[in-house]
Parts: sequence; structure tokens; C-alpha cells
Amino acid sequence: NENFNKFNTSTLITRTTNDIQQVQMALVMMLRIVVYAPIMGIGALLHVMSSEANMTWIIALCVVLILSVVMVVFIVVMPKFKIMQKLTDKLNSVVRELLDGMLVIRAFNNEKVEEEKFDKANMDITKVGLFTSRAMAIMMPVMMFLMNGTTLLILWFGSKQVDAGMIQVGSIMAFMQYAMQVIMAFLMITVVSIMIPRANVSALRINEILTTNLSITDDEHVQSFDGNEHGTIRFENVSFRYPGADEDILTDISFEAKPGEVTAFIGSTGSGKSTLINLVPRFYDVSEGSISIDGKDIRNVEQKELRNKIGYVPQKGILLAGTIRSNLLYANPNASDEDIDEALRISQSKEFVDTKPLGVDEPISQGGTNVSGGQKQRLSIARAIIKKPEIYIFDDSFSALDFKTDAALREELMKSCKKTGSTVLLVAQRISSILHADQIIVLDEGRMVGKGTHQELIKSCRIYQEIASSQLSKEELANV
Ligand SMILES: Nc1ncnc2c1ncn2[C@@H]1O[C@H](COP(=O)(O)OP(=O)(O)O)[C@@H](O)[C@H]1O
Ligand SMILES: [Mg+2]
Repeated sequence: NENFNKFNTSTLITRTTNDIQQVQMALVMMLRIVVYAPIMGIGALLHVMSSEANMTWIIALCVVLILSVVMVVFIVVMPKFKIMQKLTDKLNSVVRELLDGMLVIRAFNNEKVEEEKFDKANMDITKVGLFTSRAMAIMMPVMMFLMNGTTLLILWFGSKQVDAGMIQVGSIMAFMQYAMQVIMAFLMITVVSIMIPRANVSALRINEILTTNLSITDDEHVQSFDGNEHGTIRFENVSFRYPGADEDILTDISFEAKPGEVTAFIGSTGSGKSTLINLVPRFYDVSEGSISIDGKDIRNVEQKELRNKIGYVPQKGILLAGTIRSNLLYANPNASDEDIDEALRISQSKEFVDTKPLGVDEPISQGGTNVSGGQKQRLSIARAIIKKPEIYIFDDSFSALDFKTDAALREELMKSCKKTGSTVLLVAQRISSILHADQIIVLDEGRMVGKGTHQELIKSCRIYQEIASSQLSKEELANV
């Protein structure tokens, strides 16, 4: 996640398509021409040098001039190529935003504003593109001028030598032919080298990604879980700040979540609940303190092994293109039809899946746009259930469900978790969702301001009381 925040999506896409294409084109041209041209050039050069016409200096002059022109163009154009790739990133990101935010843009009648944004990005890249193309275009007539100038020089000096009776007319003709071949060879190489600056910029951009050190890596001496415990999570004085931020988002969090128990997190939005829960699968590493599972610091075990233990349900249900079945099997390719059925039943997805004409083989479009938010959440939950993990992580995963479905789902889910003895970490907005949790942790601005059961917290924790009284009626508060 840290690496991903550094490079945004649009630049990653440009770098994996456009930039790679530039490098590819330059390489293909180089292989074709840079291998072929020197053979021709050297052969012609040998003939030129052994010829009796004493005019090799003319060729040398021409080559030097060609190289200087190319150098000048390189120096002028090279920085522009860098800008050009940046602007391509920009254009991509504008277009992406346009497409992703289409509904919002329409709803707020901002087509014109967005059109202008696109227009600006487009004009910027056009201006730079025109400049570089013009610089390149100028090279062609300059080259032609140099070549024809060379022919003229050879004829001029050659004719004098013929006049003096030193050489034959035929020798001049032959010399001219060979001279052209030498110059052509150089020209071809320069034409190819025009592509090199651009490819070079692209190669550097690709390299920047390849050489970025992963911020989350496996320890050299990875340890394995020994299998005595199953899913005991312990936070010890954990503090966390996002890379580059200057303030801790989480401060000094300590608690233990035990197998077969539900540990719930509650707090206002922005209090750091998602951040806390994302530390468990190591989407980020803690800044201070440690998190251990079954007695092993999670930084010392293999990421694959760690994540194998975890069934993660993100805040926003995310489905991948395919079918309902393929999405569920994503967690466990060997799941049987009974497993799928069970998971659909627990996650309360069964009724809506059964109404689909193809049932579990109903197609899901990219990003899951053809199911509702609540259905997406339920399928995400079913996917986690199929994995039969030791640890469940629910990040506000019931938020898009109506109260009735939420209650039914939670009841079934808790039954199943108690049966398998899974550890459950659950973030919720609604107090009703966590009333029966074994342990509730109240977060406020990244600090733990309360820990205990509902009964304990309602007496002792002021922030919890405030949340509770804003959501529950007096009778409900008195009842539990
Ligand atoms: N990727 C990120 N980079 C920097 N800051 C972030 C990032 N994600 C969240 N935050 C900040 O962390 C705080 C807690 O966010 P979050 O854990 O999502 O809260 P919650 O889930 O409790 O609503 C917020 O103030 C938010 O601005
Ligand atoms: Mg959140």
C-alpha cells in the first residue's frame, strides 16, 4: 500500500503500456538498423580509403556536421520528452477520473468543467508534442542539405583533379557512390538514435518502479506458526503513522483478541479503525510496538502464511470480473458445492443468488457493477467464509445491509465462528451490531479510550455512552 500510494494508478498504467512501447520500438529499430548499417558503412569506407581520389576528408567533414546537428537536437529535445511522459500520465489520470466519476459529473452538471480539464491536459501535451515533432522535422532538410552539399564538394574537388590529369572521371563516380553509402549508414544510425532519448526517458521511468524497494518484505529468517494456538492476536503498544505523515494516526494501542471471541471496534469516522485493522494482514507495518499472532511477531512470518490465516472483508465490497462462483472460489479453489451453499446461506446471499437465472454461475461484471452495494458486501463476506480462516476481519462490512439482513447475517456468522473457534475482528458503526461482542474497543482520534463489554463500557466510558445514547432508545439502553 505504501508503494502504491507513492505511484498513482495512472502513472503505473502509462509506465506499463506507453513507456514499455517506447523502449520496445527503439530496441527493435536498433536491432534492425544498428546491426545492418555499419556493415554497409564499413565496406564502403574501405573502398573510399583505397580509392585514388584524395577526398576522404569531405566525408569526414559531412559526418562531423551530421553528428553535431544530431547532438544539438538531442540537447534541445531530451528534456521535452521527460515532460511529455509526465503529461501523458496527467492525461490518463484526467480520463480515468472522467470515466470513474461519470455519474457524479452528470448529476452535478459539470460536463463543461470536466471538458475544460480534459482540454487543458490535451492542449498541454499537444504543445510539447508539436515542439518535439518540429525539432525532428527540421532534421530531415538539414540532412538532405548536408548530403547534397557533400556531392557538390566531391564534384568540385574531383573535377579539379580530373583537370590536372590525376584521376579518371569513373573514379569520381565510384567515390561518390561509396561516399553516399557511408553517409547513409551514419544517417540511418542517427535516425534510430532519435528514438533513443525518448526510449531513455521511458526506460528510466520503468526502472524507477523496478528499483523501488518493497516496503513490506519477508524476513530473511522466516518463522512458521507452530500450530499450538489458532488465531490469538496481540497488539502491544502499537503506534502507527502513514508514510510521510507527521502525526500518529494510532497511538499506543494494546489488546488481545482470542479465538472463538469477537473483538469489536467502534469510534467516529476517521478515528483509525480501518487503519488499525489493516495492520493485521500487514498492508502496512507498525511504526512502533508490535503485533503478534499466536506468539509470533507478524513481521517475522511469511506474508503468504500470515494471510492464509486471515479472511478479510474490506469496507467496500470488492468483486472481480467473472461469475459469482469464480468470486467465491477465489478464496479457496477447492471449495465444494456444499461449502459454497453454506457460505451463501450464512452471508444471507442465498435468496438473491437463487433469484438469478443462472444462480451461482451468474456473471459479475468488472468491479461488481451489476450487483448492489449490499449484495457486494454479502458476497465479499461469503468469500471470506469459504476460506474457513482462523481470523476474520470485517471492516464495517455490514454498513450497506438493512437492519433485518444485518441481524440475521450476524447471528449466523457468530454461530459459525463460535463453532470453528475463529477470532473475529469487527469494525462497526452501529452499536446494535456489536452489543454481544466479547470485547469492545473504543477508539477516539487513534487512542484507545475504552475496552470491555457493552455493560462495562456503558457505565465507564464517556465516549461509548455518547455513541450509545445517539443510537439506542432509553429502553434499549436499559435492557442490555
Ligand atoms: N492512505 C492514507 N494516507 C494517509 N492518511 C490516511 C490514509 N488512510 C487514512 N488516513 C487517515 O487516517 C485517519 C484514520 O482513517 P481510517 O482508519 O480510515 O478511519 P476510520 O476507518 O475509523 O473511519 C484519517 O484521519 C485519514 O485521514
Ligand atoms: Mg473505515
